Amino acid sequence: MYDRASFANVFKPVEQAESLPPWCYTSQNFYDLEVKNLFMRVWNFFGHVDQVANKGDFITVDFVGIPLIIVRGDDGEIRAFANSCRHRGTPVADGTGNCRAFTCPYHGWVFRLDGALHSCPGMEKTEGFDKDANGLIPLRLEIFGCFMFINFDENAEPLIDYLGDFPKIMGSYDLENLRLVRKLEHEVPCNWKVHIENAMEEYHLPMVHKATLNPKEMEHSAAPTSKNWLDIREHHDNHTRSLLIEDMEHELPHIPTLEGRAAGGTNYVSLNPSTMLGMTLDSVWYLELQPQGPNHTKVVHGACFPTETVARDDFEDKVRYYYKRWDTTLGEDNDISARQHRGLRSPFAQPGRLSHLEPLVPELAQWWINHIIPEE
Ligand code: FES
Ligand SMILES: [Fe+2]
Repeated sequence: MYDRASFANVFKPVEQAESLPPWCYTSQNFYDLEVKNLFMRVWNFFGHVDQVANKGDFITVDFVGIPLIIVRGDDGEIRAFANSCRHRGTPVADGTGNCRAFTCPYHGWVFRLDGALHSCPGMEKTEGFDKDANGLIPLRLEIFGCFMFINFDENAEPLIDYLGDFPKIMGSYDLENLRLVRKLEHEVPCNWKVHIENAMEEYHLPMVHKATLNPKEMEHSAAPTSKNWLDIREHHDNHTRSLLIEDMEHELPHIPTLEGRAAGGTNYVSLNPSTMLGMTLDSVWYLELQPQGPNHTKVVHGACFPTETVARDDFEDKVRYYYKRWDTTLGEDNDISARQHRGLRSPFAQPGRLSHLEPLVPELAQWWINHIIPEE
């Protein structure tokens, strides 16, 4: 249906490249292909394990049209299931909460936290019905550090292989010791790729964030590509104090375990396809994108600090300044992404030439196209 030749201009160095054709951000057909060839095959990020901290805690997510449940079982294990009743398909849970079992609101089938069908009133006369074969459909869920990932493909490589050298290079953040202190969700009328491109380029900082970030602090360093993650390295080796707050009297302690390049600044990482991590001296935050169709994305912001930092008496007081900074800058990025998307929907929109200040824009496009429209 799509010819790789029509994407030749994104497979060039940034000085010669063009952005993706605008219809890649707006076409339902192209989005359907993204779901089939990309999101259904890769490790997708679902945030911090603290969302299901206790036995019986669950969250529900609608991800690329797939309702799913993540739940911590009675045995302490975190599992994921397709959120579709095995009777006639109704989602068995909504929102978030804590429960002993999931009761389908339609005809009352009850599923245990491990997915097994516990009871199904009215099915006594159904011939050949095997209760044991009618549990919720399990999905592959793996954890790296404090973060959960789900893969819909039974044959996909293990998460650790998918992450490549990310764990080695970013290993000193002591991710298991990070607590999720706040999670906010934003509905943004833009394509998910628009938001990731924005997160991974610094060209927009002097305009979009002119009131909130100091663009003089930016370094326009090279952007190395790894297998399934990209690192903007903006700020890297360029600061020794938090850039998240302006007033140092509100700075929270640094993560004590940081080493090497992690100790030297901030790493902005795209864990492809739909996650941006801001890994810095005192905290780690994430943007988790949940595509809702070509023209709409749910953007989840998670803020994580070390356990010892969260336990400080002054934590609540000081973290407010971090929240303010994150909320302001993310609001600016959400607004400009929605605005860009509105322009991309125009029949007059064209691929555009790029600046050397956005080298990851073509690199992201190359990664996307290689997955969405693989070479024959
Ligand atoms: S659809 Fe769930 S019990 Fe009928
Ligand atoms: Fe931004």
